[in-house]
Amino acid sequence: MKTVKLGLIGAGGIAQAHMRAMSEVSGVEIAAASDLIESNVKRTAERWGIPKTFTDYNEMLKMDELDGVIVCTPTAVHAPPTIAALKAGKHVLCEKPMEASLDAATEMVATAHKTGKILMIALKLRYTPQVIKAKKIINEGTLGDIYYAETVADRRRGNPGGSFIRKATAGFGAAADIGVYALDTALYLMGHPKPVAVMGMTSNYLSLHNTWNPALKETEVEDFATGWILFENGARLVFKTCWCMNMDSLGGTIFLGTKAGLRIGVSEVRGPQEGVTLYRDEFGDPFDIKIPTGDGVDVFKAEDAAFVDAVREGKPSPIDPDGMLLTNVIIQGVIDSQEKGGREVEVKVPTF
Ligand SMILES: NC(=O)c1ccc[n+]([C@@H]2O[C@H](COP(=O)([O-])OP(=O)(O)OC[C@H]3O[C@@H](n4cnc5c(N)ncnc54)[C@H](O)[C@@H]3O)[C@@H](O)[C@H]2O)c1
Repeated sequence: MKTVKLGLIGAGGIAQAHMRAMSEVSGVEIAAASDLIESNVKRTAERWGIPKTFTDYNEMLKMDELDGVIVCTPTAVHAPPTIAALKAGKHVLCEKPMEASLDAATEMVATAHKTGKILMIALKLRYTPQVIKAKKIINEGTLGDIYYAETVADRRRGNPGGSFIRKATAGFGAAADIGVYALDTALYLMGHPKPVAVMGMTSNYLSLHNTWNPALKETEVEDFATGWILFENGARLVFKTCWCMNMDSLGGTIFLGTKAGLRIGVSEVRGPQEGVTLYRDEFGDPFDIKIPTGDGVDVFKAEDAAFVDAVREGKPSPIDPDGMLLTNVIIQGVIDSQEKGGREVEVKVPTF
């Protein structure tokens, strides 16, 4: 089995989860790491036995032996290293969300198309047994046509602070942090319908009533976001996310189909019930069917292994960046709608 050699860009918090996961995937060598802050990269290299370190990722990208890189920089700094790496002939696994800016995200996808290299966005929920089972159920046509869905990622008191609350590093707040999981899960399960219009709202009333970061004094980004999304095929999606609220739950993630309905509750995309439940008629009466999904999996290891396998075997990106771009289109639509006093805005999906 060919050893896949990878480099790390951004040696902060989430990089440690990928280094741990990659250390458990066979046939992988983390050959180099880079970070603007030398102490971060040195500490990470020492912890995971990485032989070469850089403070400029462009220098690291000159290493011919690197097959790919893992981009773990803050969200608003995803595009520059990703685009540089793709242009240097490297495959890229980039942390979620794709980017803070829709234009930058579009350029990332365009560059992946142009270079023919893999661009995978790390959406760990795709590897949960719940999402995998729900996708299988939907792909088999069990729900019929999905005409309406609601998707939720909520926390009652959970502003993460740090780089997540700065416009310059995160771009957006809850919508881009946990909301992206809700949006991606819904879009993936609905088969990536094309959004055409969004009506949205964002607010920031409760960030400082926050048990995660009691010392927090201010937040530059939204702590609540919601959107009503219209798709080209006529389906509608309600999207709700927040870091802080005066409520126990914003509801749950549900899909209404012409033949059956489905409810899913999984880590960030929570609902009143965990797991996957199918709602349909059996023998002429309504039944709730709790679907067994099995035990939890190591989602970081599963997504990292999928990236390595795609690189080694020359497969397409396990998490298609064109589909992922729709989350940026919708989040930007929510922000634009808020700026227009909550009026509906048309959104356009970039074509390549
Ligand atoms: N998948 C998950 O569960 C998960 C969890 C947390 C964060 N994330 C995502 O991971 C990304 C990083 O988050 P984090 O919590 O690790 O942030 P962090 O601030 O802990 O780490 C970011 C690192 O990137 C470095 N950096 C910044 N600009 C750079 C540049 N131009 N070149 C090289 N290095 C640079 C910083 O010095 C820092 O060490 C974010 O996009 C976030 O949304 C994902």
